[in-house]
Amino acid sequence: MSDRIKVGLVGIGNCFSGLIQGIEYYRENPSQEVTGIIHDKLAGYGIYDIDFVCGFDVGENKVGKLLHEAIYEFPNMVDWIPKDKLPKKDAMVYESPVLDGVGLWVENRIKPISSTKTPEEIAFDVKKILKEKGVEIIVSYLPVGSDKATEFWAQICLDTGTAFVNCIPSFIASDERWAKKFEEKNIPCIGDDIKGQVGATIVHRTLAKLCDDRGTKIEKTYQINVGGNTDFLNMKEQDRLISKKISKTESVQSQLSERLDDDQIYVGPSDFIPFLGNTKLMFMRIEGRQWANIPYNMEVRLQVDDKANSAGIVVDAIRLAKIALDRGIGGPIKPASAYLMKHPIEQTSDVLAKIACEKFVAGD
Ligand SMILES: NC(=O)c1ccc[n+]([C@@H]2O[C@H](COP(=O)([O-])OP(=O)(O)OC[C@H]3O[C@@H](n4cnc5c(N)ncnc54)[C@H](O)[C@@H]3O)[C@@H](O)[C@H]2O)c1
Repeated sequence: MSDRIKVGLVGIGNCFSGLIQGIEYYRENPSQEVTGIIHDKLAGYGIYDIDFVCGFDVGENKVGKLLHEAIYEFPNMVDWIPKDKLPKKDAMVYESPVLDGVGLWVENRIKPISSTKTPEEIAFDVKKILKEKGVEIIVSYLPVGSDKATEFWAQICLDTGTAFVNCIPSFIASDERWAKKFEEKNIPCIGDDIKGQVGATIVHRTLAKLCDDRGTKIEKTYQINVGGNTDFLNMKEQDRLISKKISKTESVQSQLSERLDDDQIYVGPSDFIPFLGNTKLMFMRIEGRQWANIPYNMEVRLQVDDKANSAGIVVDAIRLAKIALDRGIGGPIKPASAYLMKHPIEQTSDVLAKIACEKFVAGD
């Protein structure tokens, strides 16, 4: 059992750029408290125990570069640590099959390398790389709507015994059929669709649960999100959004004792505003009734850096996947998925999910 965590990354976009630069930020500022969400150390693992040993992408300006350089390439825009100040490692970015990874709206931002290889040939190369680099965990931050590409990487994990952390709403850890495959091979998977540290989903879930627990009747609710990065541009393509909407809507519905009718709840990314960059704005409204049928409503506006919001969670997901590997636990890791992901195989409240997650870490 190694005390390092060797991780391979899929989709070297803004989220990974924030993850890698964030870890370096803490390294350079040791007096800063690490504001990850569970504990500084998880079963002995800290954030500096994570080694990003290789990456996979399709962009012609990323494939073939050092990972620590590729994270600064267009259209990525996270710039918390200047590029020349980020220590270089020997991890490289390799080719991934495009499949359904590049949507209509982002075609002028992501130019895939011209490849002559079939997905099967790429899979063969990928497996060799994972073995050479000793990758234990694959983390996927593919664009929304990349169902086929996600399945490609889930299958790679199954074929190579690599744990899978799926940060996007293409259902693997929460899909009975895929979950069973991971269970049968005793390979851990955590997913699906990362739930930001203090993001739109957790705020909406928590307030909806509060209104429900306090005995009011929620009658309708909406959540609108806008942002200005490639993720939001990609989400302008409605056909790619089906599972994202399910993931985000179910995350809120699951907190209510009585489901809202489909036409009384709207939760979704709603538009792309270029000058917002990685800033995400969320507008949420809940309308309901209290004692004597008297109406009430609330509105929340949340402004976050979307990438800081996700990296704080994925450092925990990676360490929880490693703990599962160390302990020989496979299949969907339910406490970690319920706590860290929007669309786990089993939803609970966030309070119960945190308790279950801490018990899991403690080995209960
Ligand atoms: N708070 C958050 O940021 C948050 C929360 C939940 C989910 N997510 C999801 O995480 C994902 C990543 O977000 P991001 O902002 O980093 O996106 P991004 O658009 O910046 O990066 C996506 C990367 O994937 C690459 N790619 C495209 N097709 C590929 C393929 N077939 N194989 C490998 N790489 C491929 C692109 O070239 C790009 O580098 C999105 O699906 C997003 O919705 C983000």
